[in-house]
Amino acid sequence: MKPREIKRGIYWVGAIDWDRRLFDSLIPLPDGTSYNSYLIKGSEKTALIDTVDPTMEQVLTNHLNELKVKGIDYVVAHHAEQDHSGSIPWVLEKYPKAKVVCTPRCKGMLIDLLLIPEDRIITVEDKETISLGDRTLEFIHAPWVHWPETMLTYLKEDKILFTCDFFGSHLATTDLYMTDEGQVYEAAKRYYAEIMMPFRTNIQKNLEKVKTYKIDIIAPSHGLMYDKPEFIIKAYHSWAFGEPKNIVVLPYVSMHNSTRGMVEHFVGALAQRGVTVKQFDLTVTDLGKLAMSLVDAATVVIGTPTVLAGPHPNAVYATFLANALRPNLKFASIIGSYGWGGKTVEQLVGMLPNLKVELLEPILCKGYPKEADFKALDNLADAIAQKHKEHGFA
Ligand code: FEO
Repeated sequence: MKPREIKRGIYWVGAIDWDRRLFDSLIPLPDGTSYNSYLIKGSEKTALIDTVDPTMEQVLTNHLNELKVKGIDYVVAHHAEQDHSGSIPWVLEKYPKAKVVCTPRCKGMLIDLLLIPEDRIITVEDKETISLGDRTLEFIHAPWVHWPETMLTYLKEDKILFTCDFFGSHLATTDLYMTDEGQVYEAAKRYYAEIMMPFRTNIQKNLEKVKTYKIDIIAPSHGLMYDKPEFIIKAYHSWAFGEPKNIVVLPYVSMHNSTRGMVEHFVGALAQRGVTVKQFDLTVTDLGKLAMSLVDAATVVIGTPTVLAGPHPNAVYATFLANALRPNLKFASIIGSYGWGGKTVEQLVGMLPNLKVELLEPILCKGYPKEADFKALDNLADAIAQKHKEHGFA
């Protein structure tokens, strides 16, 4: 892959990671990812916007060699996470006059994480500018998308907004711009759910900030660029500001089919009442799909057997994640089975402090569900359908 010219003197010099399947040793990457780095040549100075994951440092080297880049004046570090900052030490070594440009908070993090010498770093305030000669970089502080130190860069004359993780998607592709809207929407929503959703109120503030700029191109540091920026801004707006929908997310695990029997009955009961259900068997599910489903859902119901006097570890994991991702849920409940006792409900409820949900009466049955248990599940389905209707969740 060669460098790609976006506009005269502006190049994509990133790396495509086709085969990466896990991020942060946690997040599944079904479509790989990319680390987008951009080179901007001004009439007087040259800037590099973000770098690449250190595992792909050689790819960035090849691009810069290919473009015969003799000097870099500024390395803009939007974000200290290593998939973008990890090759900065190498760039500083190769280009001894280069200075890193970042927020004051990012400076400390780059020193801590990458041992970058303090005298190689310049900090910039919100809306501060740096001239490259005929081009101007304006820095926009955007804290908590998704770390506290993050910023964006607006290239004024070309109306390009470089956004690092904001508006990003984990997609390995040779395309520069979006061509398949469905594919990109899904990848961007997955990314939003996994990375941005816990910071929804900050995302809202930063979206408002971005809307004040005239933007021709949004250039994130993962996935595709957007030459129709309204597509991704509108999508983010709906995810960050939207009301929940008439959806129940049902992550569950079953050991001997008792919980599964409850889940199957309950899903049918909800569907009969016009409620959409997204059901996930936690032994096989893609956690990204589960996270994505939480973006729009009004209710989560966790299905679990009782094991070792508490919830199944897979249900604990899913509950921990749901709590950490802070989706805009309004209701929660628990269904499942037990053999002789335990503290399944108390333990799971105690794991949801971040969610401002109303807890609907959990249903735990002894052994395999019986007539009365199925009736109780029907009543829970009635309650959920009614609550969704009362709140106007369409
Ligand atoms: Fe793509 Fe938060 O790093």
